[in-house]
Amino acid sequence: MEQVYPGVWKVTLGQPEALTPVGLRHHAPLGGGEAAACPLPAEAISGKATARGYVVTLPLAAEEQCYGLGLQLLSFNQRGLKKTLRVNSDPRADLGDSHAPVPFFASTHGYGVLIDTARYATFYFGQATPLAAAAKAKKGDLAQQITGSAETMYASHTVSAEGHVYVEVPTAAGVDVYIFAGPTMVDAVARYNRFSGGGCLPPRWGLGVWYRPRLDYDETQTTALADAFHADGIPCDVMGLEPGWQTHTYSCTYVWSDKFPDPRRLITAMQARGIHLNLWQHVFIHPDSPLYTPMLPYAGDFTVWGGIVPDLTIPAARHTFAAFQDQEHVALGVSGYKLDECDSSDYIKPQWSFPEIEQFPSGLDGEQYHSLLGLNYQETVNSIFRAHGKRTYNAVRSSHALAAPYPFVLYSDLYDHRDFLRGVVNMGFSGLLWCPEVRDAKSEEDLLRRIQAVVFSPQALINAWYIKNAPWKQWRTEDNNNDQFLADADALTATVRGLFELRMALVPYLYAAFARYAQSGTPPFRALVLDYPDDPETYAVDDAWLVGDRLLVAPVTAGQTTREVYLPHGTWQDFDTGAVYAGGQKHTLDVPVTKIPVFVKAGSILPLAHPTLHAADPAALNLTVRVYGDGSLPCTLFEDDPETYAFETGAYNTAEIRWDGEKALLTRTGTTACPGYTVARWEKK
Ligand code: GAL
Repeated sequence: MEQVYPGVWKVTLGQPEALTPVGLRHHAPLGGGEAAACPLPAEAISGKATARGYVVTLPLAAEEQCYGLGLQLLSFNQRGLKKTLRVNSDPRADLGDSHAPVPFFASTHGYGVLIDTARYATFYFGQATPLAAAAKAKKGDLAQQITGSAETMYASHTVSAEGHVYVEVPTAAGVDVYIFAGPTMVDAVARYNRFSGGGCLPPRWGLGVWYRPRLDYDETQTTALADAFHADGIPCDVMGLEPGWQTHTYSCTYVWSDKFPDPRRLITAMQARGIHLNLWQHVFIHPDSPLYTPMLPYAGDFTVWGGIVPDLTIPAARHTFAAFQDQEHVALGVSGYKLDECDSSDYIKPQWSFPEIEQFPSGLDGEQYHSLLGLNYQETVNSIFRAHGKRTYNAVRSSHALAAPYPFVLYSDLYDHRDFLRGVVNMGFSGLLWCPEVRDAKSEEDLLRRIQAVVFSPQALINAWYIKNAPWKQWRTEDNNNDQFLADADALTATVRGLFELRMALVPYLYAAFARYAQSGTPPFRALVLDYPDDPETYAVDDAWLVGDRLLVAPVTAGQTTREVYLPHGTWQDFDTGAVYAGGQKHTLDVPVTKIPVFVKAGSILPLAHPTLHAADPAALNLTVRVYGDGSLPCTLFEDDPETYAFETGAYNTAEIRWDGEKALLTRTGTTACPGYTVARWEKK
């Protein structure tokens, strides 16, 4: 056992594989953090080679709960469950398939564990009981299980006694296990994120409102839409072009189609409106693409949609791909990408993606490359912007271990709202960001509930890729595509505008939370259990989350008229009214469709930006400071050049806002020349 970074312990079991997430990492760990003793005793960790691969055994205490494994959309607390971590876009059952499975989990006992493998590892969290342990069980416990319904019988098997976590890594003859010390659960996750290289800090514009028009939009339609948004007062920081911008897309050419005859003209027109342009693409390269021949030497031995599958773990492959994208898009002013289809699907017809039996030039097989493609694709694209010294914020459909430094937000074609909310709660355990994107809706209520949630997520995205008009003009897909608008479209537009203005108001607070993610690894969006691991009432809360240190959001889904919310210990206040709620208990709230249950820690200073159409508008630096309760909890904002990496070398200021009993005061630390906040007014709540 070796302490490889402060508080990060490595245990090498057997003969680990050569090609693993840590072995192929692109970011060095971030400094900082104190050394700590290994939270698990060495003798409690063991490994065993079998004919199937390698099995790791870890201890699991009675009542200990485990969370993580990446973007699990179908379950939360993993105690008592078994998961096989397979990259997949359309999981039908809670078996571990995910856009972004991550072989990392965090424990309520204040530590985290990374199993360094790109294989489809299977985790058993106290779910498998060895004969030796079962023999010790009391016979009486088993007797009662033959009474009652099947559910009662199964429930009585719920494992809460001391046990083990088993992890089976197929094929391998060994594996490195990394253990992250706490002392608390959130400290362990922050340590994992620092080990990954620290969290990402998006450019400020990335935290504004995103919109992706229908896939066949052309230049004229895209520009007209931007104008229509401005006419309606709808904020928009990013417009994302869907497949139609390319000459061929499944597989991709990465060449502008005749819908966009003059890309530079479009980008300039967008910039004039304060809007950044993002491009959809995927990684499978069409034979007509100028990239086909140069990338052929790096291709695997199977194709997808007639395109080659480049091995982006090879530096020369990344450089060739990035250089082309730079020259054709980024140099013109494109600000980011949406990296689609880099997961896989075994659940839809026709199934698509490359097979596990594929062989890649680096020596990876298809199973390993499924796990590593999303990460290496993110690295490839990120490197273009790094070389320009420009920050970027993107979308991606697959990720894996050590992803925290990548400014990429996961999304999905799935659309169950409840599962989307669980994604937000789960993402923060594993260094991921996830967007519960909004497309069409079942009803006006459904549309509003979805927008309310996305406003409190890492990326406020409307992905209207199959609807012609904004969904607030018509949420029914067919009518929307026939230009048949709602009778109350204007009223709905006004309501949606209000929600997007709320998002714009939150940008300074969100930006500061992301700055902490970058510098200390603390996730900006977190499950309640992460901050309150000693409170069993938080163990199952998978529909509410913390944003930064002060806000608790409990989104509502369509059909709910009341909402039960558990508030952890302390005193909380309603975000809108300031009404006081006692923590350590559940509250049942009436939730008319206009109400988003958001709670603020009593005493918080919460600065809100003047809402603007885009985040770079200097008017957004004027703050309305909300003072909740006695205002005893100051707030620290982050100021820098919000588009470059200068902050990484110390070029930033912090602005502390506090309440002196009569007025809100801003104290700036640092002398960096950059846009700075001003307190315009304050209001007591
Ligand atoms: C899907 C993607 C959607 C949209 C669509 C366009 O794979 O998840 O968001 O981009 O492709 O064809």
